[in-house]
Amino acid sequence: MNTELFEQIQDLKKKRNAIILAHSYQRDEVQDVADFVGDSLGLSREAAKTDAEVIVFAGVHFMAETAAILNPEKTVLIPDLEAGCSLADTISAPDVQAWKDQNPDGIVVAYVNTTADVKALADVCVTSANAVSVVAGLDQDRPIFFVPDMFLGAHVERETGRKMNLWLGECHVHAGIGEKEINSRLSEHANAEFLIHPECSCGSACLYLKPDAKIMSTEGMVRYSQTADADEFVVATEVGILHRLERFSPGKRFFPVKESAVCEYMKMITLEKILDALVNDQFKIEVQPEIAEKARRALESMIAVG
Ligand code: 13P
Ligand code: SF4
Repeated sequence: MNTELFEQIQDLKKKRNAIILAHSYQRDEVQDVADFVGDSLGLSREAAKTDAEVIVFAGVHFMAETAAILNPEKTVLIPDLEAGCSLADTISAPDVQAWKDQNPDGIVVAYVNTTADVKALADVCVTSANAVSVVAGLDQDRPIFFVPDMFLGAHVERETGRKMNLWLGECHVHAGIGEKEINSRLSEHANAEFLIHPECSCGSACLYLKPDAKIMSTEGMVRYSQTADADEFVVATEVGILHRLERFSPGKRFFPVKESAVCEYMKMITLEKILDALVNDQFKIEVQPEIAEKARRALESMIAVG
């Protein structure tokens, strides 16, 4: 840890009345300098309620955009504009509009990993933490278009028994965590509990490998492992989560299914870039008011569901 850099950031945060929000896939030192670390749902909730004037978002572009939509009067900064998301990039607003044109009575459910333009066309947003509860509460008689993650969509279908139209998008990091990797890691740690993120390509279809697997959002994993009886866990998601899991469950052991499951977009954010963001007021995320207003409705419906 670069203490000088760390202190400069803390100092500037106070001077600027700024808050740093970080996703659990961020570098360890970025998580350590943040005021709040969490999953997409927790970060959206925190962004919605903060009193800070400036939000520095240590995460990827769609997350900073979400914070900007929820806080139109605040300054939202992302330390690197290139921090994107391969999953969000799989779908655009015209793709969603085309489905809506063919299904005028349909409901569009957008995973939070989407651009503001896509959210503006959605009826409701979801995260991996609340997708099942949100979909379970939707009108039974209307068709649903679930975008963009097909593995999360398939998980929601299995949990709710509700058939949906799924957009065939995937995250390149989680899609690379499949049956082969899972099987080999589970056989090395036969007594460990298995925690899997629903974006993984195997997802709940792989439950025959370990029927008591826990399919959870990143923050769900942190909470569950704190109170579980087990001392060892095999973890299927981006490896940045290990820092948080180990911090909140000292003494327990966590084994990633795949050590190379690294999101290069998440890792673009560094302490140096966070300092630059605070010094130079960069890079501001602004969403067109008419898009933001529509997207805000879908996000607020999401935040309301636990
Ligand atoms: P969580 O919603 O579980 O944080 O994970 C989403 C993700 O993949 C962020 O990129
Ligand atoms: Fe997007 Fe996947 Fe990276 Fe999450 S891990 S930000 S879904 S590319």
